[in-house]
Amino acid sequence: MEVLLKNYIETNQKVFHEELTRHLHPLNIPESLKKSMLYSLNAGGKRLRPILLLASFETYSTNIMKTYRTASALEMIHTYSLIHDDLPAMDDDDYRRGSLTNHKVFGEATAILAGDALLTYSFEMITNDPLLSEIEKVYIINLLAKASGPTGMVAGQILDMEAENQTVELETLEKIHALKTGELLKFAVTAGAYLGNATEEQIGYLKEFAHYLGLIFQVQDDILDITGDEEKLGKAVGSDESNNKSTYPKLLGLDGAKEMKIRYLEKAKKLLKKANADTSRLADLTDYFSERDY
Ligand code: IPE
Ligand code: IPE
Ligand code: MG
Ligand code: MG
Ligand code: MG
Repeated sequence: MEVLLKNYIETNQKVFHEELTRHLHPLNIPESLKKSMLYSLNAGGKRLRPILLLASFETYSTNIMKTYRTASALEMIHTYSLIHDDLPAMDDDDYRRGSLTNHKVFGEATAILAGDALLTYSFEMITNDPLLSEIEKVYIINLLAKASGPTGMVAGQILDMEAENQTVELETLEKIHALKTGELLKFAVTAGAYLGNATEEQIGYLKEFAHYLGLIFQVQDDILDITGDEEKLGKAVGSDESNNKSTYPKLLGLDGAKEMKIRYLEKAKKLLKKANADTSRLADLTDYFSERDY
């Protein structure tokens, strides 16, 4: 990875790690719940969604503190989605972010509740953001609710489950990936641009860009589930195979999946150019999402 991008990612991983801890630690809540929430939040996620939100904001504006709570809220929702995704009733995985999954350490009931708590607290945190206007708060909360709820990530997760043991068309697979993974990434890009005062036209192009970015991200996730290194990934490979998931490599073969990813990459880059701003950081992140090995 290019040194500049590497520094950008590493610096902001630290920033968001501190932000998340700062928001959670002082909470006066049952100790077991707090421990379970912090366990997954601090387990070493890549923080790519908050970083993407920040990069999108910085394409248009400079007062980066304005993104911190919204970006942290997004990371909380993403973390909740992973805690639930790993449960025995869902993907039944034992490792995540290099550690045992939440339910393996705290039990299923606490893991479910830690997920619920992260989800709800994320919205509370946005309502308390001193740097956002009331109008901005309502806009962001609405966007985040749509991206994560029954029209977004949760819809994708149920379709993903229902596609187990099935052979689905490419169009269906795109829909599943766009919802279960793409929607939160799309939120990151559009919320960042909105808070940075991008125009509606610019946000429109970025939204289309983020659709392909979401597909690229999840295609690579599917590929890594086959070719990845468990140690590096921090989660088991072969989870998709053992759950008989519908994935890109299953439908198109490994090479077919890689080719499709390149096609998405071309479309994403074209749309970025239309966004009428210096989108070089978003372009670099797109390459990184596509080539990442963990
Ligand atoms: C994993 O996301 C789940 C998917 C949507 C593919 P990440 O690969 O961003 O996981 P963390 O946050 O770094 O653990
Ligand atoms: C995860 O998809 C999507 C969400 C958690 C919303 P996967 O099930 O492929 O993610 P991993 O591979 O377990 O990280
Ligand atoms: Mg899953
Ligand atoms: Mg999974
Ligand atoms: Mg996966």
